[in-house]
Amino acid sequence: EKGGYEHFMLKEINEQPRSIADCMRGRLDAKNGRLVLGGFRDYMNKFQNADRIIITACGTSWHAGLVAEYLFEEFARIPVEVEYASEFRYRNPVVNERDFIIAISQSGETADTLAAIELAKSKGATIFGVCNVVGSSIPRATHAGSYTHAGPEIGVASTKAFTAQISVLTMMALKLGYQRGTLPENRYMQLLSELETIPSKVEKALQLNDKIKEIAAEFKDARNFLYLGRGYNFPVALEGALKLKEISYIHAEGYPAAEMKHGPIALIDEEMPVVFIATKDSSYEKVVSNIQEVKARKGKIIAVVTEGDTTVRHMADHVIEIPETEEAFVPLVAVVPLQQLSYHIAVMRGCNVDQPRNLAKSVTVE
Ligand code: F6R
Repeated sequence: EKGGYEHFMLKEINEQPRSIADCMRGRLDAKNGRLVLGGFRDYMNKFQNADRIIITACGTSWHAGLVAEYLFEEFARIPVEVEYASEFRYRNPVVNERDFIIAISQSGETADTLAAIELAKSKGATIFGVCNVVGSSIPRATHAGSYTHAGPEIGVASTKAFTAQISVLTMMALKLGYQRGTLPENRYMQLLSELETIPSKVEKALQLNDKIKEIAAEFKDARNFLYLGRGYNFPVALEGALKLKEISYIHAEGYPAAEMKHGPIALIDEEMPVVFIATKDSSYEKVVSNIQEVKARKGKIIAVVTEGDTTVRHMADHVIEIPETEEAFVPLVAVVPLQQLSYHIAVMRGCNVDQPRNLAKSVTVE
C-alpha cells in the first residue's frame, strides 16, 4: 500500500505533482480562462462583499492559511486575518455577519478548528471549509467549501495536503480578484497559465532528492536549525521548521528573515545550519543581505534558490535550485525540498517517520 516506497511520507511527498493536478482538475482551464470551484461559486457574492476574511486552522493548515493571507490581499485586496483556532475560540473575538471565515483542515476533525467554526457561526459569519477528508465533521459544519482532493494522507506529517490546500486557496484568490476587478484580465490569464505548470515544476523539484540526501547526511546531527524566508516564503520557512521538528526531533525555528536581527541572530555560530528560501522575487536582494549576515557569523547556509542563480551559490554552503515560477506560487514548489530534507534527516536518525512520537494524525481533543 506504500506503492514501493519505504514510508507513506515519502510516497506522499512524491505524489504531489499528481495531487496538485487532481486538485485543479475540472476547476482550472487556463486556455479558456475558466476557473470554477463548485462550493465557492454559490457564495461568490457574499465573498466579494466581505469586509474581511478570517482564516482559522492549526499547525500545517495554519501555515497554508498564512500563504493565503498574502494571496487574498495581493490579488483580491480584501483584508485577511489568520488565526490559530485555539486562540480565536477563547478570546471573545469580534466577528459579525459581514465576516467571511475560511477554516482549513486536512482531517476535517481538528477539535479547536471545529469549535472556532461553531463560535463564528453563532455570531452570524459565513463559514467556508477547505478540507481533505470527504464527509468529515468540519465540512458538515460549514456553509460551503471546496475539497482539496489530495487523496488519503497517512503519514502524520502533512505534505501533499498542504500543497493541495494552497492550490485551492490560490484558485479562490485568483477568482475573487478577477471578479472584484482588482486583478486585470490579462494578468489573470497569465497567472492561470502559470498555475497549470505547477505540477510539472513540482515534478522537477522532486528530482533534487539525491542532492538533498547529501545535505541531510551532513546535518543530521545538528541540534538546532533556523529557517528563514520573506514574503510568500515566510510561511514556507515556518513549515520547513515544523516538518523537521515533528519527525526528526531536532529543534528548529522558522522566522521572517528580517526578524533575524531582532533576536535569533544571537544563536548563529559555526554549528547552526540556516535554511534560506531565497528565490528570485521582490525581496530577493534583502534576503541576500540576510545570507551575508549569517555567513559573516560563520553559520552554515543551505539555500533554496531559483534555477540559474549564481549570486547565492558563492555565499552558501549548499544551494538547492528549484524551477522559476510566479512569486505567489513559489511556496508550492519551494516547500518540496524542505519536506525531503526533513524526511531524510529523520530516516538517518532512525526516527519513526510515519508515526512520530507524541503525535496523532487528527487532533480530536483540544
Ligand atoms: C503537521 C501536522 C499538524 C496538522 C494540524 C492540523 O505536519 O500534521 O500540524 O497540520 O494538527 O490538522 P488538520 O489539518 O487535520 O486540521
